[in-house]
Amino acid sequence: MAQPRGQFSSKIGFLLAAAGSAVGLGNIWGFPTQAASNGGGAFLVVYLFLAFILAYPALMAELTIGRYARANVITALEGLSSNSSARRAGQFVGIAAVAVAVFILSFYAIVAGWMLAEFFSPLAAKLKATNVELWLDDTSFTRNALVCGLMSILTAAIIARGVEKGIEAWSTRLMPLLFAILLGLIVYVLIQPGAMSGLAAYLIPAPSQLLNPQLILSALGQAFFSLSLGVGTMLIYGSYLRDTDNLPRMGVSVTLLDTGFAFTAGLLILPAIYVADARGIAVFSEAGHLIAGPDLIFQVLPALFDSMGSTGSWVAIAFFALMSIAALTSAISLLEVPVSVCVERWQITRPTAACLSGGLIFLISLIIVWHFETLFNAVITATTVYGQPLLGIALCVFAGWVLHRHQLLKELSQGHPEIEHTLFWKVWPFYVRFVCPALIILTFLQSLR
Ligand code: PFF
Repeated sequence: MAQPRGQFSSKIGFLLAAAGSAVGLGNIWGFPTQAASNGGGAFLVVYLFLAFILAYPALMAELTIGRYARANVITALEGLSSNSSARRAGQFVGIAAVAVAVFILSFYAIVAGWMLAEFFSPLAAKLKATNVELWLDDTSFTRNALVCGLMSILTAAIIARGVEKGIEAWSTRLMPLLFAILLGLIVYVLIQPGAMSGLAAYLIPAPSQLLNPQLILSALGQAFFSLSLGVGTMLIYGSYLRDTDNLPRMGVSVTLLDTGFAFTAGLLILPAIYVADARGIAVFSEAGHLIAGPDLIFQVLPALFDSMGSTGSWVAIAFFALMSIAALTSAISLLEVPVSVCVERWQITRPTAACLSGGLIFLISLIIVWHFETLFNAVITATTVYGQPLLGIALCVFAGWVLHRHQLLKELSQGHPEIEHTLFWKVWPFYVRFVCPALIILTFLQSLR
């Protein structure tokens, strides 16, 4: 028997859930380090501009399709038109979106597991459990498998509880906690010697960089990854919105929360790098570039925390709690993509669907961990460099070309009856038809170079 569809019970519940999906490792790790290696303030200015001018319209495409169709990504795209080729194309794109979500989650859960290990390690040290600490610090297959398994169980357990009691309830608890930890860490880092140089590097734009094409395209890619676009997470969250909710306003709020978080995370990471520099920790590679990849998170920052004495281990615990929470709220939105398909298309109960999908994704994660050198970067590239932008174009095409103007207007008018007279309605349909696909193609081509 078909189960009733879930729904977010309040605007704030939706906002925190969607912001929970958007705010993740991409904001706290990806954005600040990209800013640091791409002209600091110049990257920030371009990123903020593109997030609103391009990523926001693409986010609106997903939210609008989702609420219009009130279904999982495959059923939603399949049902937008009665034309049989459009239906088949919808089914194909929907299946591809589920596949990309599954593979993103399979590597995201591995990285999230590392964050859990780094969170537990200083705790183990505080409890004088030296063997546990050593085991957590060792990047063995068993450790990686176990911490990834723990992250997968947490993710599946939240999704098994449903939209209101799982996604909404946990996002509402975790997001304010995330923000509080971030603010606490910023205050602590900003009073350390060296922090102000980091702040200057982050906030003062180098005007010569503003029109650098490489910088513009990296900022666009970052904005799309950060807003969780292209794989149906925002589509499925949009499908749980109430008819009375004002879609354009919800979209703006999610974009503001996401960019606001990324901006705020920059106030932590950039100063922390310069504080580490002031303490004599190597933060630049031999070639003179800032260390930005995993070495930043797993070597530079831990070395910084170590140099802070006994306070440092609490700072480390808080920092990795921040990373783990950010990763968890993004992971649940990714798992919801396949789970909603299982529940709605195959009438599998939600807890079973969460176990099955979570279990399958965990198996894929294990294979990736086992063949780490060959698979890890390949899966990241295939999903985020190729999959997300291509699917992003497809979703804009479905909203702009397959859904008719009057259907869009009808959907958007719910919760916003005067929409026809707004600037949004004058600009967005054109944007989503022409400008978004063209610019995503440009980013995509650039990433292939
Ligand atoms: N937006 C998340 C981040 O910034 O870390 C990553 C992400 C989540 C990408 C969900 C895609 C997605 F569907």
